[in-house]
Amino acid sequence: MDATRPSRTAMMTAILRGVHTRSSAQPILVDPWGERLVPDAVRAAIAQRAFAAAPPPAIPQADAASAPDAWLRRHASYANVITRSRYAEDRLHDAAARGVTQYLVLGAGFDTSWLRLAPDARLRVFEVDHPATQSCKLQRLAECGIEPAACVRYIAADLAQQPLADVLATCDFDPHAPTFVSWLGVTMYLTRQANMAALAGIRDCSAPGSELVFTYLDEVVWAAHAKAPSARFAQMQERLAAVGEPFLSGFDPATLAGELARAGFELVEDLSDTDLVRRYDPHGVHGFTVSGASRIARAVAR
Ligand SMILES: C[S@@+](CC[C@H](N)C(=O)[O-])C[C@H]1O[C@@H](n2cnc3c(N)ncnc32)[C@H](O)[C@@H]1O
Repeated sequence: MDATRPSRTAMMTAILRGVHTRSSAQPILVDPWGERLVPDAVRAAIAQRAFAAAPPPAIPQADAASAPDAWLRRHASYANVITRSRYAEDRLHDAAARGVTQYLVLGAGFDTSWLRLAPDARLRVFEVDHPATQSCKLQRLAECGIEPAACVRYIAADLAQQPLADVLATCDFDPHAPTFVSWLGVTMYLTRQANMAALAGIRDCSAPGSELVFTYLDEVVWAAHAKAPSARFAQMQERLAAVGEPFLSGFDPATLAGELARAGFELVEDLSDTDLVRRYDPHGVHGFTVSGASRIARAVAR
């Protein structure tokens, strides 16, 4: 990612969770905090883009205030961000019920699950993120008057450069205690080599029985695009590259179990975004659309 500025994609995922929370009669996920942490200027720029995409008079006057939300609900990542976050939080609840007390959030962005969950679950939370994103989040937490919580550690690190074990050795993370690890929306922005190093690092820091939930892109998207170029994929890559966060790599679902086994994990579940939508919106009330290329995997450290 661009080391000079906070992750735009992290801000967008926080905003999407906020839109869902505000505008759904039966939200799949309730996150009233994340989008408040996004700087006002970025929120304003996104609203501006929404109006540019559907300018008045296309928007009836009465709906003008909610036009950005309507546009964001059609965002390519909307369904994936909402359902993957809910999936990870469900797995976190299960882990906490089993007695897991460490929650490691890699590439945390503007995730606020600890604000909603940690005090009840008695979890100790370790948020690791790129310094550019984390410093922005800390500044916004302070500006929003959210007190630093005793249960949360913020650890700034470039996961493409720094071994996770070294990073966690700087705080009171216990590598011998079972941990729930969430790694959402990050692997696609790292190279294959960085992802394999990160997996090895997660395993090194995870006691047996620890659980890892991570999202990835099915690498078939690159092969398919090379064979028959997709304008949609090209435009998305262009937009992401413009903010310094192009997609760099994926995994093959057919070989994922073997790759995880070599890294010391057993794959327990591997779901497509279609599977997630079927699970969390079985009656289609949210009007979700999916790309079919995003997946979420759950693995247990052996
Ligand atoms: C799409 S955001 C996902 C944020 C959050 N997990 C979520 O689901 O809302 C990607 C996150 O990965 C982080 N990231 C990307 N490259 C990184 C790197 N090399 N080291 C540490 N964090 C990185 C960004 O700072 C950002 O917070």
